[in-house]
Amino acid sequence: MARIVAGISSSHVPAIGAAIDNKRTEEPYWKRVFSGFEKSKEWMAKTNPDVAIVVYNDHASAFSVEMIPTFALGCAAEFPPADEGWGPRPVPVVKGHPELASHIAQSVILDEFDLTICNKMEVDHGLTVPMNLLFGSPKAWPCPVIPLAVNVVLYPPPTAHRCYMLGKAIRKAVESYPEHLRVVVFGTGGMSHQISGPRAGLINSKFDKAFLDNLTKDPKKLTRISHLEFMREAGAEGIEMVMWLIMRGALDDQVEETYRFYTVPASNTAVGHIILEPKRRAAGKTQRAAGKSKRPAKLKRAAARVKSAVRRSK
Ligand SMILES: [Fe+2]
Repeated sequence: MARIVAGISSSHVPAIGAAIDNKRTEEPYWKRVFSGFEKSKEWMAKTNPDVAIVVYNDHASAFSVEMIPTFALGCAAEFPPADEGWGPRPVPVVKGHPELASHIAQSVILDEFDLTICNKMEVDHGLTVPMNLLFGSPKAWPCPVIPLAVNVVLYPPPTAHRCYMLGKAIRKAVESYPEHLRVVVFGTGGMSHQISGPRAGLINSKFDKAFLDNLTKDPKKLTRISHLEFMREAGAEGIEMVMWLIMRGALDDQVEETYRFYTVPASNTAVGHIILEPKRRAAGKTQRAAGKSKRPAKLKRAAARVKSAVRRSK
């Protein structure tokens, strides 16, 4: 059975991609941003997932105002980087996982979430920037990726609650896939930012930090945030945060916060990042780190009783 082993959220600021592509990551301004992802890259290398589901939004690269699906699942074998105006980013072609993607499409659609199926799709910075932040800049991405594009650029985007429930349906789909695969889910975009109009440059760290707190502890509270509240508190483009709730819905109700990073600004955006793992896994890790056995004392005593009974019977 496949299972979801972690959820990751990260902003996907295009200027972060440009800093990587133009080799400016060591400049003090950018080092502040990239240093916050060093531990995450180590964590990801150790976690070594078999598949990543990356929830992101397309920025008029694969879609346009002429046609924009609310939820679009990438079922292709590969997804080339899109030309966003300066030529495609110099990143590897993203390899897909058509079998798991098709399984998710079937399961989720039968659960009444009407996804658009994309058998050909280019992916832009919304997907590739978080990949760089977590996987670095390898010659080939270390695992297949299933892109899930969400419309947050043309009104009306899906509600926070709808996104959270879709995450739950995705989890059910993954857990009904027969092959043993360890899957991570990315939620990308955000945090607070507004790129145009009189409020351009808006950043609301108080809102962002409360969102991060509740993402771990009380995600249901976040599902009640309306579009208007997102836009008022986090700026027009802050609505991207609904995508984080797809990731969160795909996890257990109770999770362990493995890592968090927040910095302001990157370009004109607040950068937020969090890694969440199921509680039992994190608890197991803690016990191992403390040199304790994972077997509860009660089980150990029972095993000892069985052993001595076997010895006596010989
Ligand atoms: Fe974006």
